[in-house]
Amino acid sequence: MEKNKLKAVIFDLDGVITDSAKYHYLAWKALADELGIDFDEAYNEKLKGVSRMESLELILANGNACDKYTDEEKFSMAEKKNDNYKELIKQITPADVLPGIMDFLNELKAAGIKIALASVSKNAPFILKQLELEDYFNYVADAAKVPNAKPFPDIFLAGMEAFSLTPEVCIGVEDARTGVEAIHRAGMKAVGVGTPSEMEEADLLVTTGELKLELVKKAFNME
Ligand code: BG6
Ligand code: MG
Repeated sequence: MEKNKLKAVIFDLDGVITDSAKYHYLAWKALADELGIDFDEAYNEKLKGVSRMESLELILANGNACDKYTDEEKFSMAEKKNDNYKELIKQITPADVLPGIMDFLNELKAAGIKIALASVSKNAPFILKQLELEDYFNYVADAAKVPNAKPFPDIFLAGMEAFSLTPEVCIGVEDARTGVEAIHRAGMKAVGVGTPSEMEEADLLVTTGELKLELVKKAFNME
């Protein structure tokens, strides 16, 4: 069978390009503590890749508090978390790009493979700027314009469609279970770089430091 040529790699941001997932955790933890709701890093795994308002609902559900607050109160809680998060991510610098990511991006660029960002975070453009990575990305999906968050495939499909490609020639890179599901629903192969227990469905599980073009092509029988 003829091999597919790899034409685009579509990346998640939080937890893949940089460890901003830890700042999401800290900002949600501060809110949960204030509300008197139990919240730890294990429960936080459920929030990875999940939109802001859905994340809040998951935290409230952990304290049986979903019905305790009005929508308005919930919006202001989410805003508070986001304000706190925005303060935390100001400290991100280019030194915070995760190991192996720069080399992988350079390999892709040199090979003429398109690079896209598929993050549901409204803060993604700011983080890319802090990391000084804006020039590497041929396309950054606008989270505000994507109708359905992960695990729906929309954001990965947006990346693919921006290059007028089909799923067989694209791959996605994720650290969240919900993100791996989104990649699969888009019809693409998924590289998982997250906590192994959350990456059972990934087609290839690596650390960011192990991400190499040859390894990925070989794993997916691509050229
Ligand atoms: C995802 C994160 O990338 O973005 C989630 O994994 C986060 O944890 C989501 O909730 C939305 O991000 P933001 O920055 O718009 O609240
Ligand atoms: Mg992520």
